[in-house]
Amino acid sequence: EAPSGALHFDDLVAAEQKIEPRDWMPDAYRKTLIRQIAQHAHSEIIGMQPEGNWISRAPTLKRKAILLAKVQDEAGHGLYLYAAAETLGVSREELVNLLLEGRQKYSSIFNYPTLTWADIGAIGWLVDGAAIVNQVPLCRCSYGPYARAMIRVCKEESFHQRQGYEILYTLSHGTPEQKAMAQDAVDRWWYPSLAMFGPPDGDSTHSEQSMAWKIKRFSNDDLRQKFVDMCVPQAEILDLRIPDPDLRWNKERGVHDYTQPDYAELMRVIKGDGPCNRQRMEHRRSAHEDGAWVREAAAAYAQKKADAKKK
Ligand code: 3HC
Repeated sequence: EAPSGALHFDDLVAAEQKIEPRDWMPDAYRKTLIRQIAQHAHSEIIGMQPEGNWISRAPTLKRKAILLAKVQDEAGHGLYLYAAAETLGVSREELVNLLLEGRQKYSSIFNYPTLTWADIGAIGWLVDGAAIVNQVPLCRCSYGPYARAMIRVCKEESFHQRQGYEILYTLSHGTPEQKAMAQDAVDRWWYPSLAMFGPPDGDSTHSEQSMAWKIKRFSNDDLRQKFVDMCVPQAEILDLRIPDPDLRWNKERGVHDYTQPDYAELMRVIKGDGPCNRQRMEHRRSAHEDGAWVREAAAAYAQKKADAKKK
């Protein structure tokens, strides 16, 4: 006999209602949300590194200001998401330690290097574009705090995508060297961006249950397909080539046929064997240590204020 809360939970999910922090929920629902939201937050924080490298190298003051704003936005996205995860009964400190100890993941995409300024454009257009395709359905996730965090994240993400697209448009309509730099960046970021959506549906361990609980609204492959179909006309306007000779419109299916990313590479990168995994984690660990004094000072100040109140 399911506990009374279970019936209410199933009814709420079936009726497209939101599950709120105080509602009864299956332990496994709570567990998978903590997993996904925490890893989403970790991705935002680690994702600040590849772009942060170019803040001091931006070609103009305007580009520097835009990139600075974007990297700050990513920190804010991490904050919203850690706060959403905390409503499920974990502390941000616990989650940060799980990341630092390598016991929780962050997105594979941030383990690739940003070799030229054009990479900042390719990240905006492709990585933030993929993030939007993945995050818009999450605005309808059954867990209230996560869905609401996503609404603001998506609004900021569309600015991120536009500024990247505009960088690539400027470069591809600039000198031949600039166009070649833009094409090289698209060549390097296209397949890792496809892999961002996760393993193919047949290898996805969580999809079936996550879709039953209306956490995940579309499968990894469905979102990947949506992303490819969105990018093709955009690449045409950019006058840049998508590096896939087998990419073509399939009239019968009403979508583009395309070459799958290398999933063995995705698994290697997820396991820590990507081009930049070590430096990303070293940087995160040393930033965490360097910031310890700020956390201690803030805690001491809060304690002093609390003690003063008691007098
Ligand atoms: N990178 C790292 N790990 C990945 C991954 C990727 N690209 N794709 C899948 N995985 C992991 C999953 O986390 C899971 O491992 P776990 O059990 O240890 O968590 C395993 O591979 C199996 O994958 P599943 O498809 O079964 O897992 P999910 O159902 O969780 O689907 C997901 C994966 C689509 C990434 C889903 O977790 C999700 O939608 N997460 C929220 C969005 C997110 O985290 N995006 C990351 C990028 S953040 C970003 O883009 C910010 C923007 O500003 C650039």
